[in-house]
Formats: sequence, C-alpha cells, structure tokens
Amino acid sequence: MTQTIAVIRGDGIGPEIMDATLQVLDSLDVGLDYEFVEAGTGALESQGELLPQATLESIRKHKVALKSPLMTPVGGGFSSINVQLRRIFDLYANVRPAISFPNTKSRYSNIDMITVRENTEGAYRSEGQTLSEDGEIAKSEIQVTRKGSERIARYAYELAKSTGRKKVTIVHKANIIKTASGLFLETARRVAEEYPEIETQEMIVDNACMQLVMRPEQFDVVVTTNLFGDIMSDLCAGLVGGLGLAPGANIGEEAAIFEAVHGSAPDIAGKGLANPCALLLAAAQMLDHLGKQDKAERLRAAIIATLEAKDSLTPDLGGSGTTSSFAAAIAKRVAA
Ligand code: NAI
Ligand code: MG
Repeated sequence: MTQTIAVIRGDGIGPEIMDATLQVLDSLDVGLDYEFVEAGTGALESQGELLPQATLESIRKHKVALKSPLMTPVGGGFSSINVQLRRIFDLYANVRPAISFPNTKSRYSNIDMITVRENTEGAYRSEGQTLSEDGEIAKSEIQVTRKGSERIARYAYELAKSTGRKKVTIVHKANIIKTASGLFLETARRVAEEYPEIETQEMIVDNACMQLVMRPEQFDVVVTTNLFGDIMSDLCAGLVGGLGLAPGANIGEEAAIFEAVHGSAPDIAGKGLANPCALLLAAAQMLDHLGKQDKAERLRAAIIATLEAKDSLTPDLGGSGTTSSFAAAIAKRVAA
C-alpha cells in the first residue's frame, strides 16, 4: 500500500519551495501519495481559520506531514501555529541535523551533528509566566519532568544507535539551575547507562556554545532542554551556512512534522529566489523516518553533488539560479 502524507504548502515562499521539493521527490520515485491541506495565513483567508480541523485530521490520520513555513498574523491574539501543532500532537523531539555542505558560506567543512531538543517543556510553557500588577517583577517558571527528560534522552540515544553515531553530549546547566537542569541531567545519565556502546559526554551549556564555535567537529549527537536546544540549534545552522540549508523534524508518538527551520521569507516570496534545500533536507529526514533510508541518502547525495558542481545555485548561495532551476538540477542528479 502506498503511504500517504499530509502536505502543507504554507505561506510566503512556502508554495515555491514545496513545489520544488515535490518535483525532486517525484524524480526520486519515493512512492508517496500526498494529501494537500492548509494552515497559516493562507488557510485564514480561504477557510477562515489558521489551523483548520481538516488539517489536524489529516496529520492525525497519516501520522506524517511535510510542512512549509507558516505565517501567524501579528496581533489579533493568534498564538503561533507551530507551537499549537507541537502541543496538539505532543511533538516532544525537535531534531535538527547540522552538516557541512560544499560551497556554502560556512567557515567549517567537517561538521556532522544532530541537536535533539526537548520540545514541550522547560522554559517554554506559557503557564507559569507572570508579571506582577505593578509591572516590576516578571517570573517565568521552568518545568522539567522526569518523564519528559527520559523520553528525550532515550530518543537521542536510540537515534545515535540506529544511525551508527558514536557519542551523545548531554548539555545542561545543572550547576546553577539545580532542580530543573539537575533533574534533566540525572535522568539523562540513567538513560545513558543503558547504552554502554555509545560514549556519553556532559557539557555545561555556556562551554558547549564556545566549543561549538571553536571545535564543532567534536560533536555528534547533542541532547538538551528546550531553551538551550532552541539557541544551540540556530547556532549550529549558522555554523553550516545558514537558514537555507537547515532542516528540522518535530517528532512525537502520534505524529511527526518535517519542515525547514526558516520562515516564510516575505521579502523574497513569489520571486523564484528561495533556496529549496532546507525543505528538501527535511524531506530526507522524513524518508529516514518512513524507513526509506536508501532514498534519503540518494536525495542528500544529489544535493551535495549539485552544490559541488555549483549548478543553478540560488542567490543566497552566491549563484544566479532560481528555486525551480536549482530543484531541476537536483532532480536530474537524483534520477541519474
Ligand atoms: P525568515 O526565515 O522568513 O527570513 C529571514 C531571512 O532569511 C530573510 O531575509 C529571508 O529572505 C531569508 N531566507 C529565509 N529562508 C530562505 C530560503 N529558503 N532561501 C533564501 N533566503 C531565505 O524569518 P522572518 O523574516 O523572521 O519571518 C518571516 C515569517 O515567517 C514570520 O511571519 C514568522 O512568523 C514566520 N516563521 C515561520 C516559521 C515556521 O513556519 N516554521 C519559522 C520561522 C518564522
Ligand atoms: Mg528557534
């Protein structure tokens, strides 16, 4: 039976990079059917809702979604659709690979790491954020649970094991944030004991940031809490050449959503200038998740070969190609 996935074409550059991505997936012959559903400003305009029920049902039914960036209108009390999706489907693992690619603006050529960020708790819960009546004292609660820490640590070790990676670095600040970060560290250490074949390293977050800039090649899999993971994974995207090459997956028990890390880039929307690579790399993560690792590898290899040949690269990579000519250059190599 052919697997169906939910596809959200999204806002701004979303439709352009999604069309480009699906064109490449067709050449790769991935054997997927697509159910197109809407979310974001586009959905608000056509259906009167930012996150229509039909979209949620499609994701729930197919369990896998490929999603372009969405625009949440500023003002009007709308809460971020991405945050809502994470919450509704309990997408607890945010998985962000950072890999050096040829001919990018990166200072490094030897980075090959994955950040596994806890995506549902820590400092990012809306509950427990208060401001005193006189506006003088703001409080923000950090909530870390043993269950949440255990499942994210286990996810990171299982990922390392299944992909042949050798080391997991647990990033924390347990020396200062003694209870919340301490519980995370203690729980992750327990999980680590179950994986003696994988090297475990512990690192305090500030040192980890310095090490990332000085010697990023030492990292393999990093596991950390929500706030640290958010900041570190963007730092990693910067280390490998920026937003146009940074994919991310949001994974839970019920569903998984694969997307580019960047936003809808309204400044270049509709001009054919958007780099489709981040969404293509997210599609490769999705193929891995669906057990189609051979297709995922072929897709990554075609992207690398196209970058190496400087064939039709988009302006953000210093070329003069367009979204569709770049995609065509990748599609050609994928089919070869
Ligand atoms: P952005 O990531 O859309 O753009 C930042 C800069 O990077 C812009 O100059 C843009 O042109 C460039 N850029 C981004 N993606 C690119 C690509 N694929 N190729 C070439 N250049 C690219 O961030 P910004 O401007 O802060 O946000 C714009 C909108 O996107 C906002 O409404 C925001 O809420 C939304 N957003 C959505 C996300 C999602 O759905 N996952 C994530 C981040 C932002
Ligand atoms: Mg972020």
